Amino acid sequence: MKLTADQQAMLDGEKGWPLQIAMQMLTAVGAALDAPDMVPVTSTHLVIDGTALGEAGRDFLERLVDEGGRFSIPASINAIAVDRTKANMSTVEQDQIRMLRACEKMGALPSCSCNPFIQGILPTFGEHVAWSESATAPFVNSVLGARTNREGATAVASALTGLAPRCGMHLDENRRGEILLRIETGISGVDRFSLLGALAGRLAGDRIPVLDGIKSTPNTDEYVAFGAAFAIHGAAAMFHIAGVTPESPDLQAALGGGAPVEEFVIDEAAISGEHAATANGTMGAVDIISIGCPHASIEQLRDAAALLNEGHASCDVRFYIHTNRSTWDIAKAEGVIEVLTSAGVSVTADNCAVVSYDRVPPGARLATNSAKMALFARSVSDAEILFGTTADCIAAGISGFWRS
Ligand code: F3S
Repeated sequence: MKLTADQQAMLDGEKGWPLQIAMQMLTAVGAALDAPDMVPVTSTHLVIDGTALGEAGRDFLERLVDEGGRFSIPASINAIAVDRTKANMSTVEQDQIRMLRACEKMGALPSCSCNPFIQGILPTFGEHVAWSESATAPFVNSVLGARTNREGATAVASALTGLAPRCGMHLDENRRGEILLRIETGISGVDRFSLLGALAGRLAGDRIPVLDGIKSTPNTDEYVAFGAAFAIHGAAAMFHIAGVTPESPDLQAALGGGAPVEEFVIDEAAISGEHAATANGTMGAVDIISIGCPHASIEQLRDAAALLNEGHASCDVRFYIHTNRSTWDIAKAEGVIEVLTSAGVSVTADNCAVVSYDRVPPGARLATNSAKMALFARSVSDAEILFGTTADCIAAGISGFWRS
């Protein structure tokens, strides 16, 4: 890769170990992906989930701090594996907090959310950024029109250096739509957009899909639900909605002036098929309700409080709504947290039912409105999944029984 004198000095260790190890990571990735050089990036989003990073991740982040590492650009933090306000933490939970504190010492914003967009963390059109957490990249690229690859540990290296390899989604030629999904059924609500996202991800694989025929512009919650499910089932970092998303004023533009390599029709039968592939549980008792994957917005918390309609969670059910700390604080000030907790709902902040040291127990029957939560809960806990609307999940939380 072609490096500037300053970048070469970092790589040679002339600016300290943190920048040297960061440049080693970035140049290794860049060489593997044939990046010609580095692109300056203006923000990062970091995954520091302790269940994934363990002691090695803790030691690495703390060594960066000890050796003088400091982030050179804004860095937000993804969901962590424990509520940071929890009393009497276990050793591993304390390790998670040490990782968070290390990142804060280097300059990160402790946002602790997989949905930083509802916290106002919004890269602008054309900005080059380096964001990890698979669910964030489709939103950054597709909805905001900023540019990121689906980063991993490399996001920490980008936070330190302000650089990313110039490849993938940073290049115009890699952002064109490749396959066409003709939407021939009505889609609204986070559960339906989540199913559509899962199906789009499955069909797309590593190709960028163009969706044509969506009747109305999705709201932020629907976009977030779509992008999260899309990313968990597919490898692409971007989608287009013809006539809606910023780089797609029309179908031709979304396809970069070319023809799609493959076309699919998504009708009601296809959505029903995705529902059947997502949910493997049947009518009967439910153990856990999980709403808020990705983390719920204030609107979703208000809606849940209204839908409860003075009902109370069954004593046989663990009823979770996951959100981030700042949204939790807003909901607290509005009295929404009081309504939900009085009804037996646990409104978690910072973590969720699977990104947690206290995750879904093996084999539990879990009801959710999120295809991403469904897949994660099945893969990490072999949970039995019941999938439906937010209202379906809340009704099940109250009765303790899944009816649909
Ligand atoms: Fe967020 Fe947990 Fe879902 S981290 S995207 S709520 S699996």
